Amino acid sequence: MKTIVLANQKGGVGKSAVAVQIAYFFSLVKNKKVLVIDFDHQRNTSKSIKVGNYAKVSNTPSSNLLSQAGLKLDIADSFVLVQADNAELLKMEKKADSHNLYANNLKNFLSTLNNMFDVCIIDTNPNPDIRQLCALVVSDYVLSPIQLNQEAIDGIGDLLNHDTTGIRKIQSAINPKLKFLGILPNLVEPTPFQRDNFKDLATHFSKLLIPLDVGFAAIKKTTAIPEAQALGLPVWKLGKTSGREAWNQVKPVFEKIATMMELN
Ligand SMILES: Nc1ncnc2c1ncn2[C@@H]1O[C@H](COP(=O)(O)OP(=O)(O)OP(=O)(O)O)[C@@H](O)[C@H]1O
Ligand SMILES: [Mg+2]
Repeated sequence: MKTIVLANQKGGVGKSAVAVQIAYFFSLVKNKKVLVIDFDHQRNTSKSIKVGNYAKVSNTPSSNLLSQAGLKLDIADSFVLVQADNAELLKMEKKADSHNLYANNLKNFLSTLNNMFDVCIIDTNPNPDIRQLCALVVSDYVLSPIQLNQEAIDGIGDLLNHDTTGIRKIQSAINPKLKFLGILPNLVEPTPFQRDNFKDLATHFSKLLIPLDVGFAAIKKTTAIPEAQALGLPVWKLGKTSGREAWNQVKPVFEKIATMMELN
């Protein structure tokens, strides 16, 4: 099983949208066995996948994956969601004495699923806390959607070098197998401002972008993604021109990610 975490300390950049849509892609397009874990108390990924009804939902809330030792998944299916709870997830940061245990419990839980799933997709909250840290510690890959504004571009330094949850810190100190798939510009608009920011990124951070056959991976702003997310639908099943157009753009990005994760 390959584990990928969506992580960025910036909120509203598309972590949950990408988590849900790439889960549908792996399950329905690539016929992979998919486990989704939602560690965000906002529960956006959980809500969307539950509405869509493509996945079986575990009765275990995601906080238990961190707090309980020896936990086993309660259902067997080819597409499973471990949904986020709220109060328990929010309490975890304060329980500093248990933080090491949380990471170990999650690692052990995932190791019991190695032969049951091909891919585990973890969505995280936008705060650099223990939940995000645990997800980064157990993952093989990290993908970071960003928006093309100056603040987000300035935040790339933190994304890589933040004291506790910076990707480079985690790679060097705790999880050397973690591979950074890259930053994925999302909600891209055809304004001169964003075009200039993209050019800037491509000049200064080209190694952090995901190369496609032509140019770099990016997802345009489209009404199709929030609509698909609200209905819990794969964007290509929205049954609208906007959905098909969005999918034409997103599919090569997801195919490239599958290749990078050796999941073809
Ligand atoms: N390419 C896109 N075009 C238009 N809307 C988008 C796109 N990607 C995501 N959205 C919408 O933008 C909003 C924020 O996206 P999302 O919830 O995925 O971000 P997030 O990074 O998970 O946020 P948070 O940090 O709060 O968890 C959602 O309403 C989502 O449907
Ligand atoms: Mg989210």
